[in-house]
Amino acid sequence: GQLEEMSLPLYFGWFLLSSIQDKVRCTAMDFLKTLDTLEAFKKHLIDFTGKAEKEVDLEQYFEAKGTLHCTTKFCDYGKAEGAKDYAEKPAVKDFYGSAFELSLSALFVTPRTVGARVSLTEEQLLLWPADAEKEAGSASLPLGSRAHVTLGCAEGVEPVQTGLDLLEILALQQEGHQGELIEEMELGSLTYYGEGRWLLSLREPICSSACFSSFYG
Ligand code: A2P
Repeated sequence: GQLEEMSLPLYFGWFLLSSIQDKVRCTAMDFLKTLDTLEAFKKHLIDFTGKAEKEVDLEQYFEAKGTLHCTTKFCDYGKAEGAKDYAEKPAVKDFYGSAFELSLSALFVTPRTVGARVSLTEEQLLLWPADAEKEAGSASLPLGSRAHVTLGCAEGVEPVQTGLDLLEILALQQEGHQGELIEEMELGSLTYYGEGRWLLSLREPICSSACFSSFYG
């Protein structure tokens, strides 16, 4: 019935502490501000604009999407495959409402999304669904590869795209593509993977307290 369906959330995930949210947003904004001034970025501008001569203001290009979080399981109020099984996992019940320290290890930008990669610990992986990577057709990537925080989406792009963009970059790495090392920035090393895909590996991962919970919307 309707009530039963409502008892499952839109998604489960880790919700970043609000003071850290500001820090993450600022770091991402600083990165975007620097990225679109780099000659290497301008050289590949066409990936973002469709036209070589056009300029782009990355800070305006992406739209923020609500409270910062790392989705573990998208349940769609029970309509998503495996939603009920996930909600009933002992680890999900045991850790519900608990605090965790998330490690944000990289920032990535594509013409569709901007996000932060999350490197999960063994304990955090207990809350990670076994099929999250498979669902995206990247079955051979390690469990937890898709873990991320969506920081913004281009106009008309849904946040689900952020994890897919991250997996695409990781799949390229796994296939042996080194990418093109662009430069060492203050925040870390910047690599270009073609087709508008940029990855900044953070020198110092951003450590963020986060609560494992769910969102009903
Ligand atoms: P993400 O985790 O990349 O931010 P929406 O607002 O579109 O309903 O999405 C709510 C949250 O669930 C977002 O955080 C979103 O993406 C995530 N999400 C949406 N659809 C999926 C999906 N099919 N698989 C995994 N996560 C999803």
